[in-house]
Amino acid sequence: MSTLASENIVTGYGKQEIVHGISLTAELGKITCIFGPNGCGKSTLLKAIAGALPVWNGAARLGETVLSNLPVHEVVRQGLVLMPQGGGVFPRLTVMENLRMGGYAIADKRLVERRIETLIDQYPSLARRRKTAAGALSGGEQAMLSLARALVSEPRFILLDEPSAGLSPAMVIETLERITTLTKQGIGILMVEQNIREAMPIADKLYILAAGSKRFEGSPQDVRDDRQIMDIYMGGV
Ligand SMILES: Nc1ncnc2c1ncn2[C@@H]1O[C@H](COP(=O)(O)OP(=O)(O)O)[C@@H](O)[C@H]1O
Ligand SMILES: [Mg+2]
Repeated sequence: MSTLASENIVTGYGKQEIVHGISLTAELGKITCIFGPNGCGKSTLLKAIAGALPVWNGAARLGETVLSNLPVHEVVRQGLVLMPQGGGVFPRLTVMENLRMGGYAIADKRLVERRIETLIDQYPSLARRRKTAAGALSGGEQAMLSLARALVSEPRFILLDEPSAGLSPAMVIETLERITTLTKQGIGILMVEQNIREAMPIADKLYILAAGSKRFEGSPQDVRDDRQIMDIYMGGV
């Protein structure tokens, strides 16, 4: 079975070390959540795992394959895709053009079109607006578009950076339900979330970061049982 692992990853920007050696694992078919205060290095860690930021020390590994310092398109071919904070849709490109970007690492463009046709059926609001510029979609529709785009490469693992940020309460629930559905298809999810209340019930495993280091790992129940962690990091959720 393939496990996605961050093995003692150290990284940062310029000379500034932000992530001070973080280890974690995520499994196929499971939701692994990362919580932690703003600015503690959650996005930086996800980018380093996905190959979007160089790793200074340690490595990301998918099964036996070391991902670190492979080009991003090669990481995508290995089965790992990052949905960045804010979704990263291209506002001036149409829905279809954005979806095609999700298949940029795949040489067979007819295969990409077939996958998009299969996927878009599951997203009726996108299917109706194929030629609409992504920037004209609602926040919820843009969130669906970025999720659908991530799926075009048929990843084994998806890294999601705050997928429910800025969405209406109803869309938060729909987005997290769709993510849960993906795990039923065997996809592994590694997700940074601020909506702790909504994310806790669907998480299989949790990590809490603070100031670029790992402060806690365990099941949601382990977190609930830990008064100190609940009070300090979870705001009494
Ligand atoms: N592109 C960047 N260049 C320089 N510093 C950055 C950059 N992105 C983030 N940082 C800094 O790295 C730290 C961690 O940021 P980030 O990983 O985005 O935190 P989080 O996602 O936990 O809110 C912050 O101090 C932030 O200012
Ligand atoms: Mg972030």
